[in-house]
Amino acid sequence: MEPLMDMKYVLLIILSLLFTLGSADTYVTQFGTKADGKSDDSEAFTKAWNSACNSDNSITLQVPAGNYLLYPTTFGGPCKSKKITINLEGNLLASADINKVEDESWLRFENVEGLEINGGVLDGKGARYWLCKEDGGDCHVGAKSLVFNKCKNVRVNNLTSMNSKMFHIVLDESEGVRVYGLKVRAPANSLNTDGIHVEGSSDVLIIDANIQTGDDCISIGPGTHDMWVEQVTCGPGHGISIGSLGQYLDEPGVQNVTVKNVVFHGTTNGLRIKTWARKSNGFVKEIVFDGVVMNDVENPIIIDQNYCPHGQDCPDQISGVQISGVTYKNVTGTSTTEVAMTFDCSASNPCREIELEDVDLTYKYQKAQASCIYAEGTAAGVVTPPSCL
Ligand SMILES: *[C@@H]1O[C@H](CO)[C@@H](O)[C@H](O)[C@H]1NC(C)=O
Ligand SMILES: *[C@@H]1O[C@H](CO)[C@@H](O)[C@H](O)[C@H]1NC(C)=O
Ligand SMILES: *[C@@H]1O[C@H](CO)[C@@H](O)[C@H](O)[C@H]1NC(C)=O
Repeated sequence: MEPLMDMKYVLLIILSLLFTLGSADTYVTQFGTKADGKSDDSEAFTKAWNSACNSDNSITLQVPAGNYLLYPTTFGGPCKSKKITINLEGNLLASADINKVEDESWLRFENVEGLEINGGVLDGKGARYWLCKEDGGDCHVGAKSLVFNKCKNVRVNNLTSMNSKMFHIVLDESEGVRVYGLKVRAPANSLNTDGIHVEGSSDVLIIDANIQTGDDCISIGPGTHDMWVEQVTCGPGHGISIGSLGQYLDEPGVQNVTVKNVVFHGTTNGLRIKTWARKSNGFVKEIVFDGVVMNDVENPIIIDQNYCPHGQDCPDQISGVQISGVTYKNVTGTSTTEVAMTFDCSASNPCREIELEDVDLTYKYQKAQASCIYAEGTAAGVVTPPSCL
């Protein structure tokens, strides 16, 4: 070879080496994934995560097209890397096995700050698990598909979650979470498959979601504040629920939640607030529901402070949770039951400052009814059924 040619090769090798080292892209395939939907890829994913997490740089973890079988896995922090992006082109599959005791979560991010997940499909393979529960079998604990625990600055874009064994997505004790373009799919009769469950979290934004599942579309638990939900379609399912709250005496409240431009299709509830009939210091305040369309919803607007399943563990039969400052604005559509609006509040802590503005709900083309117990508030604009506040 001529000396000049040699130099060219050497340069090329140096350049490509530099490129590889300097590149912030990591492929899970580098860690030995099989992506055949049958081999266990959990260990390879854990290794890929640890490598990304321990990096000094921002890292993009690439998950190419393919089917990756993953057993319950925790992606833990704190990480050295300030920003980890996971580009999911492939499908992540849970095990359908229900004979083994599983963890409570399938894919769990814990103590992670600065995370973005783009695209992808999570398949929780829940069918056998729901059947087992329906049959009252000894089915162990079922996993929630995607859990963020003690995480900060998280963004989830265009993710699809299907057939989760339990809840699809859980935000727990997390802060600064953005969920855009989420799709949730599970059958109407699948038990406990809430679309998104939020608790103990703040600064949460859920925009543009389509959630079809067997339980709550979005459920908002104790300690949630500063949350915004917009442009969401729910149904089938149980609707958007604040609660259940007040199961415990010392329980953080729910404050400053806005739900805007939401459509319900054939759900059991629309906008629900639900508390246990037990002593509690919990509260619900500064809640706004604005621009909501109900299509054949069983209980379009409902506050139920008398939750006491099987009449057990409710020694007082009166909820201590104080509900105040709840606005229902521009809520229209159809109810499949006569009572389209129910405010069944606590005798010891009546609901205060319930505001109705431009609410128009009908029942089979007839007038619907409203029912108030221990509820105070005001009505403005056209309100049908007529307010009972
Ligand atoms: C989500 O998907 C939509 C439609 O394919 C696309 O326009 C949008 O850019 C995606 N958003 C993100 C943040 O990736
Ligand atoms: C209420 O929450 C929104 C986010 O949904 C936030 O922008 C706003 O600042 C919060 N309001 C108060 C008074 O904290
Ligand atoms: C009422 O809500 C619907 C559905 O979100 C929306 O399309 C409409 O613009 C809203 N009307 C007003 C006056 O804000």
